[in-house]
This record gives sequence, C-alpha cells and structure tokens, in this order.
Amino acid sequence: MSRASSTFECQSCGYASAKWLGRCPDCGGWNSFVEEKRTREAKKSAAPRLGSRPVPIDQVKGEEESRIQTGDAEFDRVLGGGIVPGSLVLLGGEPGIGKSTLLLQISRSLERLARRVLYVSGEESAQQIRMRADRLGGASGGAGGELLLMTESNLERIVAAVDDVGATDVIVDSIQTTFSEELDSAPGSISQVRHVATRLLELSKSRGIPVFLIGHITKDGMLAGPKALEHIVDAVLYFEGERHHNHRIVRAVKNRFGAANEIGIFEMTARGLVPAASPSVLFLRERAAQLAGSAVICVLEGTRPLLVEVQALVSTGQYGTSRRMATGIGQNRLAVLVAMLEKRLGCHLLGCDIYCSAAGGIEVDEPAADLGIVAAILSSFRNHAIAPSTVLIGEMGLAGEVRPVASASARVREAAAMGFRRCILPAGNTPLADAPAGLELLPIDSVSDLSGVAFS
Ligand code: TYD
Ligand code: MG
Repeated sequence: MSRASSTFECQSCGYASAKWLGRCPDCGGWNSFVEEKRTREAKKSAAPRLGSRPVPIDQVKGEEESRIQTGDAEFDRVLGGGIVPGSLVLLGGEPGIGKSTLLLQISRSLERLARRVLYVSGEESAQQIRMRADRLGGASGGAGGELLLMTESNLERIVAAVDDVGATDVIVDSIQTTFSEELDSAPGSISQVRHVATRLLELSKSRGIPVFLIGHITKDGMLAGPKALEHIVDAVLYFEGERHHNHRIVRAVKNRFGAANEIGIFEMTARGLVPAASPSVLFLRERAAQLAGSAVICVLEGTRPLLVEVQALVSTGQYGTSRRMATGIGQNRLAVLVAMLEKRLGCHLLGCDIYCSAAGGIEVDEPAADLGIVAAILSSFRNHAIAPSTVLIGEMGLAGEVRPVASASARVREAAAMGFRRCILPAGNTPLADAPAGLELLPIDSVSDLSGVAFS
C-alpha cells in the first residue's frame, strides 16, 4: 500500500515512475504526473472517455498488447492468441448451444490465473451457476484468484459492482436481459441493447479490463441483439452449426485484434466444452468410406486447414419441378456448379433433385470447396464412389476450368497428415514447393479431367 502511494503515473500515456517528474520521458508531456492513487480515483469518478488528447502516431506505443492466455487452446485461438485487456467481446449463439458453459469455463481458467472474475447473470440464479460450475469441475486450486457471481440485470449496479470488487474480467450473461435505468424502453429492445453495449465498451476501455457479453440469436430472426452490436464491440464470436452435434464451432466473424473467420472447435462433453484435439478427425469420423456421393475436401478456416466431407444425393425428380437443397454450402453456389456440370459435361441434371451438404454442421463458404462438391454430385449421379483416400481441392470457373486456391501447401500437408494418399488439385497450384511424401498429387486443369482421376 505504501508503495502504491509513492508511485506516480503520467496522465497522458500511463507511464509509471517511482518519483514525480516534470516531464514524462515516454510521451514528452510536461507536468502530467500525478500520484497513482489519485489517478485511480480520478479514473473512477471521471465520466468514461475513450480518447484523451490527439497524439502523434509515432509516439503511440506500437507493441502488441500483452494478451491473457486462458489455457483453453481453442478459445485463445479464436481470439487471435488470447484475451486482449480492455476489449469488449460479444459471444452469440442459439439458446442452449453452450454460451454460458463456455464463458463459465473461461471464468474458471481466469480465476486460476489469479484474476478476479465477475460473472453477472440476469438469466440464472447463483445456485444454478454454481451447479454448472460443479459439473465443469476444476475448482480454483487456491491460486489467489476469485470467481464472483452476481445475479443482476441493472447496468448501473453492474458497473458499480465492477469497481467495487475490483474485477479484472467481467462476463455479462446476457445482453438481452441487461437494462439501463437511463432509458425507458424494455430490456432487450434495440435502444437498450445498444446503450448497454456502449456503456460496457466504455467500462472495458477506461478500466482496461476484458468484458464478455453473451447475446442470444435465433436462427432466422436475430431480433434485437447481436447483429445490431457488431460495430460497437471489438470482437464478435458466434457459435455455428447445430445443437444436435456433439462438437461446437465458435467462429470469430469480427476481430479487431486478430484474424476474422478463425474458428475454435470444441466437443460438448458431460464435463463441459473440451477443445477438439484433431478437428479433421472430428469431421471425418462419421464418414462411411466408399459411398457414391461422398467427397473429402480441404477448406481453410481462418488460418487452419480442415478436412470436411461433402455429400451429394442426386435423385430423379418426382414432381415435375426439381429441387436443389444445400446445407452448410451456399444455395447459389450449388446452383452455379450444377449448371456448369450440365453445360460442360453434358450431365442431364435438369430433372433431378439434388441435395448437397457439408457433414458435421460446418458452414463451407470457400471457393476451394467447389471441386469436391462437383465430384460428389458426379459421383452420386453416376452411382460410382470416388477412389478411396482422395482429397479434392479447387475452385471452379463457369467455363469448367479448375482455378488455383490460396494456401495449397497447407491444405495438402493436412491431407497427408490425416493419412490421405491422393490429392486432386488445380494444375495452377503445382508444382508445390514442399509437397509431402506419401501423397500422390493429381493436378487437373478442367472439370473434364475430373472423371479420369477421381473414379479410377
Ligand atoms: P448453456 O451454456 O446453458 O447454453 P446457452 O447459454 O448458450 O443457452 O448450454 C446448455 C447445454 O449444454 C445444455 O443442453 C446442457 C449442455 N451441457 C453439457 O452437455 N455438458 C456440460 O458440462 C454442461 C455444463 C452443459
Ligand atoms: Mg445461457
């Protein structure tokens, strides 16, 4: 305590010094030093502000913020390598998909890092949360950290509690139940949701603490909520896919501090969400090999290559109008690929119903998946299975040409690592600089070359 009162801090840049200085050696500001104790009080009472005064860009510290590694590899990965202090992160998803579970787990991990975590819930009682925590296991272990539970939906009281307990991390579950006294509108309304998020943004920036916000989204509606907040928060993570699978995909659709589109893959177990050791195994394990209509592709999710099975079912249409249905694959993309197959290979698909899906509930929206989708449709149409142990990579053009894809080497390496022995890929991507041994590369230029290599 006595040490704290004898330290001084620059009000402009935060530079700390044991003694009072006339001029800050860091930002060059004159008479900017105040006692740290006073600074803290000033920070508390002052209206939260995001910027101070204009500073030349060269004087701003450019080094990477020190991130907090939670120890949950998948969670850290989605955030771009850990939690950034002072960031506001929105975690969205359907009800029951695992939002509260994930953030309670992360709270526990942070507690183990000797941090003071405030978990505010407007949805569940403290007892319910305690019961879930028991289920997740892994108590604090006496690292000096603390996980504080608060059942509250009043924003002003939440903000006061954060300062009161000196929280280093805050979880708010959920944005829809939290309301501010300053507005008359009902909790969950657009204006409340926006106001609450803005206030929490100020809270996280002014105190330099990470704040996590949970938001519910429904499959179609989205209602008032997460979508309206995406531009306010620093990062938006969404639970993707369905509850019916055991695995859960968390995708960063926006991240000011890392790569967007990065995904984290977990398995929902009886003891909470466990990071998936090998995601490709997870997506391929239900695959019945050697079936017509099945193809394995390699997509790039964020920075990670992932092997995924796509399936197609081509059947004779019964009702005059043919149906095209895609799950986990863009509907329009499917229509384009089918039209291309008709035109370039002369397949009579016009009267056929075509169903196409990416297995495992993952959303595949990468052009590199095209070749695999086309192969799966052809395979089902001809009732002929694709040669075993084959991975397909490639983007299709409308003229039937197979176009090169980004990060071909990384994809091919993943295929080899997962034990595949043949890889059909765009000729434009070959020769590959560091082709893995044991994997036969089969470069093709056009869709007309596909049958020759895929079904051999
Ligand atoms: P929850 O985190 O409550 O969902 P959300 O906050 O997104 O609404 O997740 C609830 C689901 O997760 C529930 O159906 C039970 C399941 N679950 C497990 O399978 N294992 C566990 O260890 C826990 C805590 C939950
Ligand atoms: Mg919940």
